[in-house]
Parts: sequence; structure tokens; C-alpha cells
Amino acid sequence: MTQLDTGPDGEACDADERAKDFDEGPHGRTVLVTGGAGFIGSHLARALVEENEVRILDDLTTGSVDAVPDDATPIEGDVTDRATVEEAMAGVDIVFHQAAVVSVDESVADPPRSHRVNVDGTLTVLEAAREAGARVVLASSAAVYGDPGTLPVTIDEPMTPRSPYGADKAAVDAYAHAYDATYGIPVVALRYFNVYGPGQRGPYSGVIEAFVQRALAGEPLTIHGDGEQTRDFVHVSDVVKANLAAATTEHTGTAYNVGTGESVTVTDLAAIVREEAGTDADVRHESARTGDVRHSRAATGRARDRLGFEARVPLREGIADLIGVRVETSQPSGSAEQAPQRPADHGDV
Ligand code: NAD
Ligand code: UD1
Repeated sequence: MTQLDTGPDGEACDADERAKDFDEGPHGRTVLVTGGAGFIGSHLARALVEENEVRILDDLTTGSVDAVPDDATPIEGDVTDRATVEEAMAGVDIVFHQAAVVSVDESVADPPRSHRVNVDGTLTVLEAAREAGARVVLASSAAVYGDPGTLPVTIDEPMTPRSPYGADKAAVDAYAHAYDATYGIPVVALRYFNVYGPGQRGPYSGVIEAFVQRALAGEPLTIHGDGEQTRDFVHVSDVVKANLAAATTEHTGTAYNVGTGESVTVTDLAAIVREEAGTDADVRHESARTGDVRHSRAATGRARDRLGFEARVPLREGIADLIGVRVETSQPSGSAEQAPQRPADHGDV
């Protein structure tokens, strides 16, 4: 295992301050965040680091070392490597397993790679957690539902994934239940809906990040398909809160939806981004993506009743904040009147 240098940018941002309003969560524990150099994992690490000893295991395929908070211990390594994971897990009380191939498109292009990281990697983490006696909080996904029969989709809806990525997440979601039931280690699966906020990066970042970057650069926003598909967009600070609640709940051995309970069409999302960015950037249509889910919206009752979790950040507010961060980080000081020209790096938040 290699110890990584941390950069100056793994500092708290507004999104992390929001997550801190939440009193629940572990204190005085040793925690491991896999994928902790990535978008969600780095926000989670920042929320945990003041009260806990935090280790981060990440192979930096999409993550950035600059996003790792200074007080966390970074370990560069692959979650599919058993020896690496066992070493990282030694003495750990709770593991937040975020590392994954996150893009639906990438999973469609290369299902075996997605399976190796998402399924084999998770099994490796579960096995090491079993040996260490650690609690596991797993990042699952709304993608497990595919095109659900009813909306909002409840946790009891059958898992009928549409993409290899969704199938991977359905498998690990089932393993979460099985490990809790078979070995008695507490495991919780969190089915995130579409997560957004500062710190998403790379060619496979989500649609909000793609739209914001394009709108600020004055480039056309590209909609795949007719734009009438819907998503439930949840702010990363809310996703962090759900993880903190899952780390202490008695109600383990089950999955929870992590969404807002509201959805928006991609066409309406494009309009919100253009309005909040103050741009008249064009909107263009391309062919629909293979494996794309049509409609998605979370039923939030189980997470509210058992975890005490409710998403708080309204979509428009979260997008306005994100645009603010992007504008701030793309301008040299003293040039506030200039239009931003380049997207911010992951570590800039
Ligand atoms: P991300 O790409 O920013 O983070 C994933 C991290 O995992 C990266 O830092 C990457 O370098 C690391 N990683 C990838 N392969 C690895 C490997 N083999 N070994 C070690 N590290 C590896 O993505 P994210 O949006 O932060 O996603 C975090 C988790 O949340 C993932 O499990 C993802 O499937 C899940 N999720 C995300 C969303 C979303 O909208 N972003 C929605 C549902 C579920
Ligand atoms: C996202 C996550 C996935 C997660 C799932 C849960 C990312 C990269 N993927 O997948 O990990 O499990 O939510 O619901 O965050 N679109 C456009 N134009 C663009 C980009 C996307 O029209 O420039 C459309 C897509 O076709 C899709 C919708 O916007 O219909 C959302 O796409 P995307 O943000 O990539 O997320 P999901 O595929 O839903």
C-alpha cells in the first residue's frame, strides 16, 4: 500500500458544513472510506474526520488525492485486492464502501470490468469486514430498480435493473442483506438516487455537473433522448447525512432509499440550470442512452422512520450553490465581472 500525499484542497466546503448540522453519526471510531478520494466519499470523509480516525482506500481511477482531507490517512489501492483491503480494514469499526465504477455508460461498454470492481470489490470488502468485525455501510443505487412498476418507488419494489451497473448494485445490495443475516455483522445498503453537488468530476460525471459546466462555458446543453425522462436529484450533503445515520442505526440488514421524493424531467433540469447560470446556451438533443432508466423517484418513508433521515436541500438551491462554487473557483481574485471559462477541478471545493 502506498501512502499518498494530501493536497491543500481537501478542505471543508459549504456542502460539508451542511452535513455537520446533523448530530448523529459515529464518534471516536476508526472508519474506512473506500472511494474516499471520489465525489461522495470525500464529502463523507470530511464529515467524519473531526470526530473519528479516518482511513481512505482509493485507486484514484476517478478520484483525486486533492479531495482527501488533511487529517485522513490515504491508502492507494484496489478494492479487489484482498491483502490491501485486509490491511486497510485492520482495527476498523465501520467501513463506508463507496468505491465503484459509477457510470452506467461505462458499465454498458465494459460489463466485466464493472462487475469486477462493483461486485468482486464489494465482496472483498464484506469478507474483510467480516474478519475485522466491522459494520458496513454500502453505496447501492436506485439503478437496482430499473424501470419500476410504481412511483415513487418503495424499497419493496422488485430489483429489475436495466444496465450492467444496475445488476452489479442489485447483487451487492443482496449481499448486504445476506452478510447481515448469515454472519451477524451489521450491514446497511443505501440506494442513492441521482447525487449532485460540488466535487463531481470527469467525463462520466452526472447530468447536473455536465449541464453546469456547459452552461458556464456558453456551450450547448446536450439532452439524451426526448428529455422527458425523470430523476430524483439529491444533494451530496444529504447523502452524507444518510451515511452517518446508517453508521449508527439498529435497523441493519436492509436497504434504504436516499432521495428527496421529488423528481424533475431532464428538459426542466436544463431550464433550471440555464436560469440559475444566467445563460441562453442552446439545448440540443442526441439519441437516448442504452440502459437509460425512464423514470425514477424515491419513496422516502423507510429512511425517515428508521434512520430519521430526510433530504433537506431543494434542487434549485443546490444548483445555485454549485454554480456559485464553480464561478468562484474559475475566476482569479478581483475578476468577479468576468464570465467563467473553465470548469473547476475536483479539489477546488
Ligand atoms: P466517484 O467516481 O467520484 O467515486 C468513486 C471512487 O472510487 C473514486 O475515487 C475512484 O477512484 C474509486 N475507485 C474506483 N474503482 C476503485 C477500485 N477498484 N479500488 C479503489 N477505489 C476505486 O463516484 P461517486 O459519485 O462518488 O460514487 C460513490 C458511490 O456512490 C459509488 O458506489 C456509486 O456507485 C454510488 N452511487 C453514486 C450515485 C451518483 O449519482 N453519483 C448514485 C447512486 C450510487
Ligand atoms: C446516475 C449515477 C449512477 C447512479 C444512478 C442512480 C452518475 C454518473 N451516475 O445514473 O451512478 O447509480 O444515477 O439513479 O452520477 N443526460 C443528458 N445529458 C447529459 C448527461 C445525462 O440528457 O449530458 C441524461 C441521461 O440520459 C439520463 C439523465 O440525464 O437520462 C441522468 O443521467 P446521469 O446523470 O448520467 O445519471 P444516471 O444514468 O441516472
